[in-house]
Amino acid sequence: MCFLVLRVFLGFLLCAQCQCSECPLGCECFSVTRTVKCVSTDLLTVPEKIPGYSRNVIIKGNNIHQIGPHAFTELENVTNIILSNNRITEMASHSFSALLYLRFLDLSGNTLALIHPEALSIPGSPLQELNLSRSLQNYTALTDLTTALRWGGLGGLLHLDLSGNNLALLPPGMFSHLPNLQQLLLTNNSLVAVYSGTFSGMNHLQVLDLTHNDFRTFRDDALQEIEKLGNIRILLGDNPYTCSCEIREFVSWLNESRAQVDVEAVRCTSPSKLSGTQVRGLGIQAIGCVGPDQAEVADLSLQTSYVFLGLVLGFVGMVFLFVLYLNRKDMKKWIIDMRDACQDVLEGYHYRFEIDSDPRLGHIQAGNVGCRVQGHLGSAPSQELPNDTCILKVPADTQVKQVTASSTMLR
Ligand SMILES: *[C@@H]1O[C@H](CO)[C@@H](O)[C@H](O)[C@H]1NC(C)=O
Ligand SMILES: *[C@@H]1O[C@H](CO)[C@@H](O)[C@H](O)[C@H]1NC(C)=O
Ligand SMILES: *[C@@H]1O[C@H](CO)[C@@H](O)[C@H](O)[C@H]1NC(C)=O
Ligand SMILES: *[C@@H]1O[C@H](CO)[C@@H](O)[C@H](O)[C@H]1NC(C)=O
Ligand SMILES: *[C@@H]1O[C@H](CO)[C@@H](O)[C@H](O)[C@H]1NC(C)=O
Repeated sequence: MCFLVLRVFLGFLLCAQCQCSECPLGCECFSVTRTVKCVSTDLLTVPEKIPGYSRNVIIKGNNIHQIGPHAFTELENVTNIILSNNRITEMASHSFSALLYLRFLDLSGNTLALIHPEALSIPGSPLQELNLSRSLQNYTALTDLTTALRWGGLGGLLHLDLSGNNLALLPPGMFSHLPNLQQLLLTNNSLVAVYSGTFSGMNHLQVLDLTHNDFRTFRDDALQEIEKLGNIRILLGDNPYTCSCEIREFVSWLNESRAQVDVEAVRCTSPSKLSGTQVRGLGIQAIGCVGPDQAEVADLSLQTSYVFLGLVLGFVGMVFLFVLYLNRKDMKKWIIDMRDACQDVLEGYHYRFEIDSDPRLGHIQAGNVGCRVQGHLGSAPSQELPNDTCILKVPADTQVKQVTASSTMLR
Protein backbone atom coordinates (compact mmCIF):
# COMPACT_ATOMS: atom_id res chain seq x y z
CA MET A 1 0.00 0.00 0.00
CA CYS A 2 2.73 2.37 1.09
CA PHE A 3 4.79 1.28 -1.86
CA LEU A 4 1.99 1.93 -4.25
CA VAL A 5 1.44 5.44 -2.92
CA LEU A 6 5.14 6.12 -3.12
CA ARG A 7 5.33 4.84 -6.70
CA VAL A 8 2.37 6.93 -7.79
CA PHE A 9 3.88 9.93 -6.09
CA LEU A 10 7.29 9.31 -7.68
CA GLY A 11 5.68 8.70 -11.06
CA PHE A 12 3.77 11.97 -10.73
CA LEU A 13 6.93 13.82 -9.80
CA LEU A 14 8.85 12.34 -12.73
CA CYS A 15 6.07 13.17 -15.09
CA ALA A 16 5.90 16.73 -13.85
CA GLN A 17 9.63 16.99 -14.25
CA CYS A 18 9.52 15.65 -17.75
CA GLN A 19 6.71 18.08 -18.58
CA CYS A 20 8.85 20.94 -17.29
CA SER A 21 11.76 19.99 -19.47
CA GLU A 22 9.58 19.19 -22.43
CA CYS A 23 11.34 20.23 -25.61
CA PRO A 24 9.73 20.56 -29.06
CA LEU A 25 10.51 17.79 -31.49
CA GLY A 26 13.81 18.31 -33.31
CA CYS A 27 14.92 21.06 -30.93
CA GLU A 28 17.43 21.16 -28.12
CA CYS A 29 16.53 22.88 -24.89
CA PHE A 30 19.05 24.12 -22.36
CA SER A 31 17.38 25.11 -19.16
CA VAL A 32 20.60 26.41 -17.59
CA THR A 33 21.24 28.89 -20.34
CA ARG A 34 17.48 29.20 -20.97
CA THR A 35 18.05 28.57 -24.63
CA VAL A 36 16.08 26.64 -27.23
CA LYS A 37 17.73 25.68 -30.49
CA CYS A 38 15.97 24.31 -33.55
CA VAL A 39 18.63 24.29 -36.23
CA SER A 40 18.21 22.79 -39.70
CA THR A 41 15.44 20.38 -38.83
CA ASP A 42 13.06 21.18 -41.68
CA LEU A 43 10.49 22.70 -39.39
CA LEU A 44 7.52 24.05 -41.33
CA THR A 45 6.22 26.29 -38.57
CA VAL A 46 7.54 27.86 -35.42
CA PRO A 47 7.25 25.01 -32.85
CA GLU A 48 4.41 25.41 -30.40
CA LYS A 49 5.71 24.18 -27.10
CA ILE A 50 8.78 26.29 -26.53
CA PRO A 51 9.54 26.12 -22.78
CA GLY A 52 8.40 29.14 -20.83
CA TYR A 53 11.78 29.65 -19.20
CA SER A 54 13.39 30.45 -22.57
CA ARG A 55 15.30 33.65 -22.97
CA ASN A 56 16.97 32.78 -26.26
CA VAL A 57 15.15 31.16 -29.14
CA ILE A 58 17.24 30.07 -32.10
CA ILE A 59 15.34 28.69 -35.07
CA LYS A 60 17.66 28.54 -38.07
CA GLY A 61 17.83 26.86 -41.45
CA ASN A 62 14.29 25.52 -41.61
CA ASN A 63 11.41 25.83 -44.03
CA ILE A 64 9.12 28.14 -42.17
CA HIS A 65 7.08 29.92 -44.76
CA GLN A 66 5.12 32.20 -42.52
CA ILE A 67 5.30 33.74 -39.08
CA GLY A 68 1.68 33.68 -37.94
CA PRO A 69 0.02 36.07 -35.53
CA HIS A 70 0.23 33.56 -32.67
CA ALA A 71 3.65 32.08 -33.42
CA PHE A 72 5.12 33.31 -30.17
CA THR A 73 2.71 33.44 -27.30
CA GLU A 74 3.24 32.85 -23.61
CA LEU A 75 6.93 33.52 -23.96
CA GLU A 76 7.05 36.62 -21.89
CA ASN A 77 10.70 36.20 -20.88
CA VAL A 78 12.24 35.80 -24.33
CA THR A 79 14.81 38.49 -25.10
CA ASN A 80 16.56 37.18 -28.21
CA ILE A 81 15.08 35.49 -31.25
CA ILE A 82 17.11 34.32 -34.20
CA LEU A 83 15.02 33.32 -37.19
CA SER A 84 17.66 33.45 -39.90
CA ASN A 85 17.64 31.38 -43.08
CA ASN A 86 14.18 29.93 -42.69
CA ARG A 87 12.77 30.95 -46.10
CA ILE A 88 10.22 33.10 -44.37
CA THR A 89 8.17 35.05 -46.91
CA GLU A 90 5.36 36.40 -44.79
CA MET A 91 5.03 38.07 -41.44
CA ALA A 92 1.55 38.51 -40.03
CA SER A 93 0.22 41.29 -37.87
CA HIS A 94 1.56 41.40 -34.31
CA SER A 95 3.79 38.39 -34.89
CA PHE A 96 5.96 39.27 -31.91
CA SER A 97 3.65 41.41 -29.83
CA ALA A 98 3.49 38.92 -26.93
CA LEU A 99 7.23 39.19 -26.42
CA LEU A 100 7.33 42.16 -24.09
CA TYR A 101 11.06 41.79 -23.39
CA LEU A 102 12.25 41.06 -26.90
CA ARG A 103 15.39 43.09 -27.50
CA PHE A 104 17.08 41.29 -30.35
CA LEU A 105 15.42 39.97 -33.49
CA ASP A 106 17.38 38.42 -36.33
CA LEU A 107 15.41 37.82 -39.50
CA SER A 108 18.41 37.71 -41.83
CA GLY A 109 18.65 35.42 -44.81
CA ASN A 110 14.95 35.09 -45.51
CA THR A 111 12.82 35.99 -48.53
CA LEU A 112 10.33 38.37 -47.03
CA ALA A 113 7.75 39.52 -49.57
CA LEU A 114 4.77 40.32 -47.41
CA ILE A 115 5.20 42.21 -44.17
CA HIS A 116 2.11 43.31 -42.33
CA PRO A 117 2.21 47.00 -41.30
CA GLU A 118 2.01 45.95 -37.66
CA ALA A 119 4.20 42.89 -37.93
CA LEU A 120 6.91 44.46 -35.81
CA SER A 121 4.84 46.25 -33.23
CA ILE A 122 5.34 45.26 -29.62
CA PRO A 123 3.82 47.17 -26.74
CA GLY A 124 6.44 49.29 -25.00
CA SER A 125 8.89 49.16 -27.94
CA PRO A 126 11.40 46.84 -26.28
CA LEU A 127 13.17 45.96 -29.55
CA GLN A 128 16.71 47.34 -29.74
CA GLU A 129 18.29 45.42 -32.57
CA LEU A 130 16.74 44.25 -35.81
CA ASN A 131 18.70 42.30 -38.38
CA LEU A 132 17.15 42.26 -41.83
CA SER A 133 20.31 41.47 -43.72
CA ARG A 134 19.64 39.63 -47.00
CA SER A 135 16.01 39.23 -46.08
CA LEU A 136 13.95 41.36 -48.43
CA GLN A 137 12.86 39.69 -51.63
CA ASN A 138 11.97 42.67 -53.77
CA TYR A 139 10.85 46.27 -53.81
CA THR A 140 7.37 45.39 -52.54
CA ALA A 141 8.98 44.03 -49.41
CA LEU A 142 10.90 47.28 -48.99
CA THR A 143 7.76 49.40 -49.14
CA ASP A 144 6.06 46.97 -46.75
CA LEU A 145 8.98 47.27 -44.40
CA THR A 146 8.89 51.06 -44.61
CA THR A 147 5.28 50.95 -43.49
CA ALA A 148 6.05 48.46 -40.76
CA LEU A 149 8.87 50.65 -39.45
CA ARG A 150 6.45 53.56 -39.38
CA TRP A 151 3.58 51.69 -37.71
CA GLY A 152 5.65 49.47 -35.51
CA GLY A 153 6.32 52.05 -32.84
CA LEU A 154 9.98 51.10 -32.87
CA GLY A 155 11.03 54.05 -30.77
CA GLY A 156 13.51 51.94 -28.86
CA LEU A 157 15.37 50.55 -31.86
CA LEU A 158 19.12 51.22 -31.74
CA HIS A 159 20.59 49.00 -34.47
CA LEU A 160 19.17 48.19 -37.87
CA ASP A 161 20.91 46.00 -40.40
CA LEU A 162 19.55 46.24 -43.96
CA SER A 163 22.65 45.02 -45.74
CA GLY A 164 22.65 42.82 -48.83
CA ASN A 165 19.10 43.54 -49.93
CA ASN A 166 19.76 44.85 -53.45
CA LEU A 167 18.23 48.14 -52.40
CA ALA A 168 18.50 50.66 -55.23
CA LEU A 169 16.76 53.50 -53.49
CA LEU A 170 15.45 54.29 -50.06
CA PRO A 171 11.96 55.75 -49.69
CA PRO A 172 12.22 59.29 -48.31
CA GLY A 173 11.75 59.42 -44.56
CA MET A 174 12.06 55.65 -44.31
CA PHE A 175 13.82 55.91 -40.96
CA SER A 176 12.03 58.96 -39.64
CA HIS A 177 10.10 56.90 -37.07
CA LEU A 178 13.25 55.46 -35.58
CA PRO A 179 14.32 58.50 -33.57
CA ASN A 180 16.81 56.65 -31.38
CA LEU A 181 18.58 54.64 -34.04
CA GLN A 182 22.33 54.61 -33.47
CA GLN A 183 23.57 52.25 -36.14
CA LEU A 184 22.24 51.90 -39.66
CA LEU A 185 23.90 49.34 -41.89
CA LEU A 186 23.15 49.64 -45.58
CA THR A 187 26.24 47.93 -46.89
CA ASN A 188 26.22 45.62 -49.91
CA ASN A 189 23.20 47.12 -51.63
CA SER A 190 22.80 48.89 -54.99
CA LEU A 191 22.24 52.42 -53.77
CA VAL A 192 23.21 55.12 -56.26
CA ALA A 193 22.03 58.26 -54.53
CA VAL A 194 21.04 59.83 -51.27
CA TYR A 195 18.27 62.42 -51.45
CA SER A 196 17.26 65.13 -49.10
CA GLY A 197 14.94 63.48 -46.60
CA THR A 198 16.53 60.05 -46.86
CA PHE A 199 17.91 60.23 -43.32
CA SER A 200 15.44 62.65 -41.82
CA GLY A 201 14.34 62.20 -38.23
CA MET A 202 17.40 60.34 -37.02
CA ASN A 203 18.94 62.50 -34.35
CA HIS A 204 21.03 59.94 -32.52
CA LEU A 205 22.74 58.13 -35.35
CA GLN A 206 26.34 57.24 -34.63
CA VAL A 207 27.26 54.88 -37.45
CA LEU A 208 26.07 54.91 -41.05
CA ASP A 209 27.46 52.21 -43.29
CA LEU A 210 27.09 52.82 -47.02
CA THR A 211 30.02 50.72 -48.17
CA HIS A 212 29.79 48.36 -51.10
CA ASN A 213 27.01 50.14 -53.00
CA ASP A 214 26.83 51.80 -56.42
CA PHE A 215 27.63 55.38 -55.53
CA ARG A 216 29.62 57.12 -58.26
CA THR A 217 29.58 60.44 -56.52
CA PHE A 218 27.52 62.36 -53.97
CA ARG A 219 25.76 65.45 -55.23
CA ASP A 220 25.27 68.61 -53.27
CA ASP A 221 21.85 67.73 -51.81
CA ALA A 222 23.14 64.30 -50.76
CA LEU A 223 26.11 65.88 -49.01
CA GLN A 224 23.86 68.30 -47.20
CA GLU A 225 21.68 65.41 -46.07
CA ILE A 226 24.70 63.51 -44.78
CA GLU A 227 26.21 66.59 -43.19
CA LYS A 228 23.00 67.04 -41.19
CA LEU A 229 23.85 63.83 -39.34
CA GLY A 230 26.71 65.65 -37.65
CA ASN A 231 30.13 64.29 -36.77
CA ILE A 232 29.10 60.64 -36.88
CA ARG A 233 31.04 57.73 -38.30
CA ILE A 234 30.20 57.29 -41.99
CA LEU A 235 31.55 54.42 -44.03
CA LEU A 236 31.66 55.16 -47.74
CA GLY A 237 34.34 52.81 -49.01
CA ASP A 238 34.06 50.23 -51.79
CA ASN A 239 31.90 52.28 -54.09
CA PRO A 240 32.67 52.75 -57.82
CA TYR A 241 33.53 56.44 -57.57
CA THR A 242 33.96 58.17 -60.92
CA CYS A 243 36.59 60.84 -60.53
CA SER A 244 35.44 63.29 -63.19
CA CYS A 245 34.51 66.91 -62.65
CA GLU A 246 31.17 65.87 -61.13
CA ILE A 247 32.94 64.53 -58.08
CA ARG A 248 34.27 67.98 -57.18
CA GLU A 249 31.66 68.74 -54.51
CA PHE A 250 32.25 65.35 -52.92
CA VAL A 251 35.99 65.97 -52.86
CA SER A 252 35.62 69.33 -51.18
CA TRP A 253 33.18 67.81 -48.69
CA LEU A 254 35.69 65.07 -47.90
CA ASN A 255 38.34 67.78 -47.59
CA GLU A 256 36.34 69.67 -45.02
CA SER A 257 33.64 67.55 -43.38
CA ARG A 258 33.52 67.05 -39.65
CA ALA A 259 32.13 63.54 -40.11
CA GLN A 260 34.49 60.62 -39.50
CA VAL A 261 34.77 59.06 -42.94
CA ASP A 262 36.76 55.98 -43.92
CA VAL A 263 38.70 58.15 -46.39
CA GLU A 264 41.35 55.45 -46.86
CA ALA A 265 38.76 53.25 -48.58
CA VAL A 266 37.13 55.99 -50.65
CA ARG A 267 38.96 55.60 -53.95
CA CYS A 268 38.36 56.27 -57.63
CA THR A 269 37.33 53.38 -59.86
CA SER A 270 37.37 55.36 -63.09
CA PRO A 271 38.82 56.93 -65.19
CA SER A 272 41.57 54.37 -65.49
CA LYS A 273 44.36 56.89 -64.93
CA LEU A 274 42.92 57.70 -61.49
CA SER A 275 41.79 54.18 -60.62
CA GLY A 276 42.75 53.38 -57.05
CA THR A 277 43.53 57.00 -56.15
CA GLN A 278 42.14 58.28 -52.90
CA VAL A 279 39.26 60.67 -53.56
CA ARG A 280 40.02 63.06 -50.74
CA GLY A 281 42.62 65.61 -51.64
CA LEU A 282 42.13 65.32 -55.40
CA GLY A 283 42.79 68.65 -57.09
CA ILE A 284 40.26 70.10 -59.50
CA GLN A 285 43.00 69.94 -62.16
CA ALA A 286 43.28 66.18 -61.71
CA ILE A 287 39.55 65.54 -62.08
CA GLY A 288 39.46 67.61 -65.27
CA CYS A 289 37.39 70.63 -64.36
CA VAL A 290 40.17 73.14 -64.65
CA GLY A 291 39.59 76.87 -64.71
CA PRO A 292 41.55 78.53 -67.57
CA ASP A 293 41.29 75.81 -70.24
CA GLN A 294 37.59 75.47 -69.72
CA ALA A 295 37.08 79.22 -69.66
CA GLU A 296 38.91 79.49 -72.99
CA VAL A 297 36.75 76.81 -74.54
CA ALA A 298 33.61 78.49 -73.23
CA ASP A 299 34.83 81.85 -74.56
CA LEU A 300 35.54 80.43 -77.97
CA SER A 301 32.14 78.82 -78.22
CA LEU A 302 30.53 82.11 -77.14
CA GLN A 303 32.44 83.95 -79.84
CA THR A 304 31.45 81.50 -82.54
CA SER A 305 27.83 81.77 -81.51
CA TYR A 306 27.98 85.57 -81.77
CA VAL A 307 29.50 85.34 -85.25
CA PHE A 308 26.80 82.94 -86.29
CA LEU A 309 24.06 85.22 -84.95
CA GLY A 310 25.58 88.15 -86.90
CA LEU A 311 25.64 86.14 -90.11
CA VAL A 312 22.02 85.13 -89.72
CA LEU A 313 20.88 88.69 -89.02
CA GLY A 314 22.86 90.01 -92.02
CA PHE A 315 21.29 87.43 -94.29
CA VAL A 316 17.78 88.27 -93.12
CA GLY A 317 18.47 91.98 -93.73
CA MET A 318 19.71 91.33 -97.24
CA VAL A 319 16.66 89.26 -98.10
CA PHE A 320 14.44 92.08 -96.84
CA LEU A 321 16.21 94.69 -98.95
CA PHE A 322 16.06 92.44 -102.01
CA VAL A 323 12.31 91.96 -101.60
CA LEU A 324 11.91 95.73 -101.30
CA TYR A 325 13.94 96.19 -104.46
CA LEU A 326 11.87 93.68 -106.43
CA ASN A 327 8.67 95.42 -105.39
CA ARG A 328 9.95 98.95 -105.97
CA LYS A 329 7.32 99.79 -108.65
CA ASP A 330 4.46 98.65 -106.47
CA MET A 331 5.94 100.55 -103.57
CA LYS A 332 6.16 103.76 -105.57
CA LYS A 333 2.59 103.41 -106.75
CA TRP A 334 1.47 102.72 -103.19
CA ILE A 335 3.25 105.80 -101.86
CA ILE A 336 1.67 108.00 -104.51
CA ASP A 337 -1.75 106.54 -103.78
CA MET A 338 -1.28 107.20 -100.10
CA ARG A 339 -0.22 110.76 -100.72
CA ASP A 340 -3.27 111.40 -102.91
CA ALA A 341 -5.55 109.91 -100.34
CA CYS A 342 -4.08 112.12 -97.64
CA GLN A 343 -4.46 115.12 -99.84
CA ASP A 344 -8.13 114.37 -100.40
CA VAL A 345 -8.79 113.98 -96.73
CA LEU A 346 -6.97 117.18 -95.84
CA GLU A 347 -8.81 119.12 -98.50
CA GLY A 348 -12.04 117.88 -96.99
CA TYR A 349 -10.99 119.31 -93.62
CA HIS A 350 -9.94 122.54 -95.23
CA TYR A 351 -13.36 122.94 -96.72
CA ARG A 352 -15.11 122.25 -93.42
CA PHE A 353 -13.05 124.75 -91.45
CA GLU A 354 -13.68 127.39 -94.05
CA ILE A 355 -17.37 126.84 -93.51
CA ASP A 356 -16.91 126.87 -89.73
CA SER A 357 -15.17 130.23 -89.76
CA ASP A 358 -17.91 131.77 -91.92
CA PRO A 359 -19.98 133.76 -89.40
CA ARG A 360 -23.13 133.37 -91.46
CA LEU A 361 -22.97 129.60 -91.37
CA GLY A 362 -21.76 129.48 -87.74
CA HIS A 363 -25.10 128.79 -86.08
CA ILE A 364 -25.79 125.76 -88.27
CA GLN A 365 -22.57 124.12 -87.17
CA ALA A 366 -23.08 125.29 -83.63
CA GLY A 367 -26.44 123.65 -83.51
CA ASN A 368 -24.98 120.38 -84.76
CA VAL A 369 -21.57 120.19 -83.12
CA GLY A 370 -21.09 122.79 -80.42
CA CYS A 371 -24.06 121.94 -78.33
CA ARG A 372 -23.17 118.30 -78.48
CA VAL A 373 -19.85 119.26 -76.91
CA GLN A 374 -21.66 121.31 -74.33
CA GLY A 375 -23.91 118.42 -73.47
CA HIS A 376 -20.82 116.37 -73.12
CA LEU A 377 -19.16 118.78 -70.77
CA GLY A 378 -22.40 119.04 -68.87
CA SER A 379 -21.25 121.40 -66.14
CA ALA A 380 -20.50 124.39 -68.39
CA PRO A 381 -22.82 127.24 -67.40
CA SER A 382 -23.54 128.04 -71.04
CA GLN A 383 -27.19 128.92 -70.68
CA GLU A 384 -26.69 132.65 -71.09
CA LEU A 385 -23.95 132.39 -73.65
CA PRO A 386 -24.77 132.60 -77.34
CA ASN A 387 -24.79 129.33 -79.16
CA ASP A 388 -21.61 129.84 -81.15
CA THR A 389 -19.42 130.31 -78.06
CA CYS A 390 -19.57 126.62 -77.33
CA ILE A 391 -18.03 125.68 -80.65
CA LEU A 392 -14.50 126.75 -80.27
CA LYS A 393 -11.59 126.02 -78.12
CA VAL A 394 -9.06 126.95 -80.79
CA PRO A 395 -9.82 129.96 -82.91
CA ALA A 396 -11.05 128.74 -86.24
CA ASP A 397 -8.82 130.83 -88.46
CA THR A 398 -5.58 129.42 -86.96
CA GLN A 399 -6.76 125.95 -87.80
CA VAL A 400 -7.57 127.04 -91.30
CA LYS A 401 -4.17 128.63 -91.65
CA GLN A 402 -2.47 125.48 -90.53
CA VAL A 403 -4.44 123.30 -92.84
CA THR A 404 -3.86 125.61 -95.75
CA ALA A 405 -0.18 125.65 -95.04
CA SER A 406 0.11 121.89 -94.91
CA SER A 407 -1.96 121.42 -98.03
CA THR A 408 0.18 123.89 -99.95
CA MET A 409 3.23 122.04 -98.75
CA LEU A 410 1.84 118.82 -100.13
CA ARG A 411 1.20 120.42 -103.47
C1 LIG B 1 9.41 34.85 -16.45
O1 LIG B 1 10.32 35.25 -15.46
C2 LIG B 1 9.73 35.53 -14.22
C3 LIG B 1 10.80 36.08 -13.31
O2 LIG B 1 12.02 35.47 -13.57
C4 LIG B 1 9.06 34.28 -13.67
O3 LIG B 1 8.44 34.58 -12.46
C5 LIG B 1 8.02 33.82 -14.68
O4 LIG B 1 7.49 32.61 -14.24
C6 LIG B 1 8.68 33.58 -16.02
N1 LIG B 1 7.67 33.23 -16.97
C7 LIG B 1 7.57 32.04 -17.52
C8 LIG B 1 6.47 31.84 -18.52
O5 LIG B 1 8.33 31.17 -17.23
C1 LIG C 1 22.96 40.23 -39.37
O1 LIG C 1 22.97 38.93 -39.89
C2 LIG C 1 24.03 38.64 -40.78
C3 LIG C 1 23.82 37.25 -41.33
O2 LIG C 1 23.27 36.42 -40.41
C4 LIG C 1 25.33 38.78 -40.05
O3 LIG C 1 26.40 38.51 -40.93
C5 LIG C 1 25.44 40.19 -39.53
O4 LIG C 1 26.63 40.34 -38.79
C6 LIG C 1 24.26 40.53 -38.66
N1 LIG C 1 24.28 41.93 -38.35
C7 LIG C 1 24.59 42.39 -37.14
C8 LIG C 1 24.56 43.88 -36.98
O5 LIG C 1 24.86 41.67 -36.21
C1 LIG D 1 7.57 40.68 -54.91
O1 LIG D 1 7.42 39.31 -54.62
C2 LIG D 1 6.10 38.91 -54.34
C3 LIG D 1 6.11 37.45 -53.99
O2 LIG D 1 7.02 36.73 -54.76
C4 LIG D 1 5.23 39.20 -55.58
O3 LIG D 1 3.88 38.87 -55.27
C5 LIG D 1 5.32 40.67 -55.91
O4 LIG D 1 4.60 40.93 -57.07
C6 LIG D 1 6.77 41.06 -56.14
N1 LIG D 1 6.84 42.48 -56.39
C7 LIG D 1 7.59 43.02 -57.35
C8 LIG D 1 7.59 44.50 -57.47
O5 LIG D 1 8.25 42.33 -58.11
C1 LIG E 1 26.22 40.92 -50.76
O1 LIG E 1 24.89 40.50 -50.89
C2 LIG E 1 24.73 39.39 -51.74
C3 LIG E 1 23.25 39.12 -51.82
O2 LIG E 1 22.54 40.26 -52.05
C4 LIG E 1 25.49 38.20 -51.18
O3 LIG E 1 25.37 37.11 -52.05
C5 LIG E 1 26.95 38.57 -51.03
O4 LIG E 1 27.65 37.51 -50.40
C6 LIG E 1 27.08 39.81 -50.19
N1 LIG E 1 28.46 40.23 -50.17
C7 LIG E 1 29.05 40.62 -49.06
C8 LIG E 1 30.46 41.06 -49.21
O5 LIG E 1 28.48 40.64 -48.00
C1 LIG F 1 41.08 69.21 -51.49
O1 LIG F 1 42.25 69.44 -50.75
C2 LIG F 1 43.45 69.45 -51.50
C3 LIG F 1 44.61 69.68 -50.56
O2 LIG F 1 44.48 68.94 -49.43
C4 LIG F 1 43.40 70.54 -52.56
O3 LIG F 1 44.56 70.50 -53.35
C5 LIG F 1 42.19 70.32 -53.45
O4 LIG F 1 42.08 71.35 -54.37
C6 LIG F 1 40.93 70.24 -52.61
N1 LIG F 1 39.86 69.89 -53.51
C7 LIG F 1 38.73 70.56 -53.57
C8 LIG F 1 37.77 70.15 -54.63
O5 LIG F 1 38.48 71.45 -52.81
